[in-house]
Amino acid sequence: MMDRVGRIKMPGTLLMGIGAVSELAKSVESLGGRRVLVVADPGIVQAGVVDKVNAVLEAKQIAVSVYDGVESDPRLEIVSDCAERARQAGADVLIGVGGGSSLDIAKVAAIVVRHGGPVQRFFGIGNTPGRGLPTIVLPTTAGTGSEVTPIAVLSDEAEKLKKGIVSDDLYPDISIVDPGLMVSAPPSVTAYTGMDTLTHAIEAYTSRYSLPFVDTLALEAIRLVGRHLRRAVSNGSDLEARSGMALASTYGGMCLGPVNTAAVHALAYPLGGTYHVAHGQANALLLPYVMEFNFPSDMCKFAEVAKALGEKIEGLSLRDAALASVKAVRELSIDINLPQKMREFSIPEDAIPEMAEAAMKVTRLLNNNPRTVRIDDVRRIYEQAH
Ligand SMILES: [Fe+2]
Repeated sequence: MMDRVGRIKMPGTLLMGIGAVSELAKSVESLGGRRVLVVADPGIVQAGVVDKVNAVLEAKQIAVSVYDGVESDPRLEIVSDCAERARQAGADVLIGVGGGSSLDIAKVAAIVVRHGGPVQRFFGIGNTPGRGLPTIVLPTTAGTGSEVTPIAVLSDEAEKLKKGIVSDDLYPDISIVDPGLMVSAPPSVTAYTGMDTLTHAIEAYTSRYSLPFVDTLALEAIRLVGRHLRRAVSNGSDLEARSGMALASTYGGMCLGPVNTAAVHALAYPLGGTYHVAHGQANALLLPYVMEFNFPSDMCKFAEVAKALGEKIEGLSLRDAALASVKAVRELSIDINLPQKMREFSIPEDAIPEMAEAAMKVTRLLNNNPRTVRIDDVRRIYEQAH
């Protein structure tokens, strides 16, 4: 039923396919760029990915500077550092290369360069002053889907919480999704970023505010993760699996603008903010527990999730079919060697009440959850996941 008006917006241009990185110089020129700042983290530089990107640019006489100060769960200061570097370099285009953190930093720093900070004033929905410098993003993980979202997530050290900026101004001008750039992602990163994609798709598909046209993208993303994630983790050079996961990540990311995520992401925030558990890792850990809580909200949809993940649901009761989705997610997470319990990250059990209070503040996402979540529910989910 289409009982609400949905809204979907995309980045300016999306280039996708093995070898798409070769279109980078042309993309910079199309935005009027002659002098770029590449935004990355030290790991991506070390893996040689930035050299590959720079070579494409320098071959076309585009001046390249590199900011390699991005960290995981980036603090607010990283945005101002990066913006300062862009000003010093006289950059006219910012290019984010890496995982979600590098892409998010490039997206937000572009706005700071043009409009000034402080970045705190951007938190929340629609609080940015306008579009920033032109941005191009090249994801090297599949992933956060940041390449197609109007979202950036930063760590607010003072409040020990990860906070989101949501604004159409954050859509990159050009996104280049090249599975060939993803082969250097190590197995553990491939595993948890892939589970992040799965979480985006499952949370969007089962959201209280799901939308029919987003459902199609979400279900396909779930199917692609079910089919390709184990393979991509087992053999990073498997380009067919990397392509499947790149597509899943992009579809999953496209779900985030119009529908966004729900309780899994809200409950994952304190794990990242306080205990520095990687975003995808925290989602992977919490996903089956939150699904177990949510499945009565729409058993048909959870049964569809099970089917998309390859479960045989014929002959099962609707309840068993819906619960098969939880089993499928749990088995996938185990097969790709992800930790299943919070205690494996040295999170003390007595931290749960404080974490539950922090999670309850993420109303932006909790409001989307298909089943109403109260603080007792959050505590119980954390206890089960401990
Ligand atoms: Fe996510």
